[in-house]
Amino acid sequence: MCGIVGYTGEKPAKDLLIQNLKSLEYRGYDSAGIALQDADGLTVLRRVGKVDGLAAAAEHLEDASTCGIGHTRWATHGAPSERNAHPICDCSGKIAVVHNGIIENYQELRQELQANGHTFKTDTDTEVIAHLIEEAYEGNLYEAVRQACLRLVGSYGLAVVCAQEPGRIVATRKGSPIVLAHGEDGSYVASDIIAVIKASRDVAILDDENYAILEPSGITYKDANGKDVTPHIMHVDWDVDVAEKGGYPDFMLKEIHEQPRVIRDTLAGRMVNGHLSIEELGMTLDELQTIDRVYIIACGTSYHAGLIARELIESWARIPTVAEAASEFRYRNPVITPSTLVVAISQSGETADTLAAIRLARIKGAKVLGITNVVGSPVARESDGVIYTKANKEIAVASTKSFLGQIVSLTLLAMELAQSKGKLTTAQIRVLFHELADTANQVEKILSDTTAIDEAAQATKDAHDAFFIGRGMGAQVCREGALKLKEISYLHAEAYPAGEMKHGPIALIHEGFPVIAVATKSPTYDKMLSNIEESRARGAMVIAIATEGDEEIKKYADHVIYIPRVRDAFMPITATVPMQLFARSIAIARHCDVDKPRNLAKSVTVE
Ligand code: F6R
Repeated sequence: MCGIVGYTGEKPAKDLLIQNLKSLEYRGYDSAGIALQDADGLTVLRRVGKVDGLAAAAEHLEDASTCGIGHTRWATHGAPSERNAHPICDCSGKIAVVHNGIIENYQELRQELQANGHTFKTDTDTEVIAHLIEEAYEGNLYEAVRQACLRLVGSYGLAVVCAQEPGRIVATRKGSPIVLAHGEDGSYVASDIIAVIKASRDVAILDDENYAILEPSGITYKDANGKDVTPHIMHVDWDVDVAEKGGYPDFMLKEIHEQPRVIRDTLAGRMVNGHLSIEELGMTLDELQTIDRVYIIACGTSYHAGLIARELIESWARIPTVAEAASEFRYRNPVITPSTLVVAISQSGETADTLAAIRLARIKGAKVLGITNVVGSPVARESDGVIYTKANKEIAVASTKSFLGQIVSLTLLAMELAQSKGKLTTAQIRVLFHELADTANQVEKILSDTTAIDEAAQATKDAHDAFFIGRGMGAQVCREGALKLKEISYLHAEAYPAGEMKHGPIALIHEGFPVIAVATKSPTYDKMLSNIEESRARGAMVIAIATEGDEEIKKYADHVIYIPRVRDAFMPITATVPMQLFARSIAIARHCDVDKPRNLAKSVTVE
């Protein structure tokens, strides 16, 4: 969603800010802007649409400024328009603010500030912050920002500049990330590591309600009482080139092809002297043994990984497990006791609903295990233990490699729980582990020849709707397949457990209606064949995802996409890959931007 950048140093700020805003484009946004400090005060430029449009509009600006802030906005309060884009100024135009998050009490603050004579020029919640800083400003920007923040209810990541304080940026946060780096040419702030690592690989992660005061020579950190503090420094070891497409036409394809590496990296170091090792769980064997219920909470694709994990945990560890959308969980009154394990899954580690669900679970006394892709993210910091998926930075908005990283991590967790409960022996764990590791080779094989997938995509590209059907693990994989297809190709797709079709959805089937069926060799294979027949008898065009060597399936399907034989527990890893490629192939044929689907954001930091 929204993105923040800021720079103060020796170099012209304009191009640096625009370049850094471009690195945040993947998060999704609808407008962008910059505020530059110069001899005349502040120059603010905002545009609806892509950063390229902002860059074109900024061409006429001089390169004199060496300090400024920038923003990409994903509209929440106030329509996507130039006047609602950030940076947003106070009445005098001397203070400019960029803000990520939501100010919940903005209406009452707005009324109060209007009564005090402030004039509002936007429909945003952010504008109250600019006016509050203006009210509190007495020659010390840090102090004014601090005073303003005392009045705010909600979440924020902020960067602020003031015409009266040349070369200085004040940044702070509550519930929305802010990272900082000092390099040879100056000091950088952003809401995302990717926008600061070119300056330094040692990145400071600002704590909630702490402040950073950036100057060209360095960054000072303070807490809310004005005391100097030392931030947590994270060394970033992932490849800076991650933001490049590496020869692929889009990030989505590049990330799909990275999946064998993700599986291998996620498993690296997990089998030590023949024993499973997940030290980061943060739980003793005694604690693991007392777990009598598991809740898995997540959103979107991460929730789908949770549904797969539920099957594994119940089947291997025999612990009752519920997977639930975090947005629902947080407003229910779930049964949680100190012996409940809550597993929170989030690629970004920033998803607002997942964070709220974690907080609720902890208040109720549960241990929370975070599974995230982002080191030092809020999910990592608010959980009792963390397993990091080793997907590396995911740029395409639609999750692919992080999903596989999540499934592999959750499979390890299910094995660990089963072992601690005495339901799987060490020998059984070793066999499972080796088969799990082998899925990396099987995914490589699927990626090496996509002819059948592309043919099936060609046959589907002009459809208006599609069904994804499966049973057991297959039903869960279908949810992800349908989500991928609808989010990147805008083709309406629904996933149904195959046995449910005749209870309603089959009424929609007509001649040529695409039905994508996961019909791999599993205990319910024969049932799946019957379900496929039911749809086919009503005219469906069936695309089957089937196990290599299965000749019989050809009698039931118009197109067959073969995947290597794996045990049913690991089928989600292999079956997901053709579904990702299928969705991408259709999206490309429909001329969609597969990396930046409309209306979507990479990190959903608002409810
Ligand atoms: C879909 C997708 C989203 C995310 C969801 C949760 O491709 O990426 O559905 O999975 O927004 O995001 P995280 O995992 O960052 O919490």
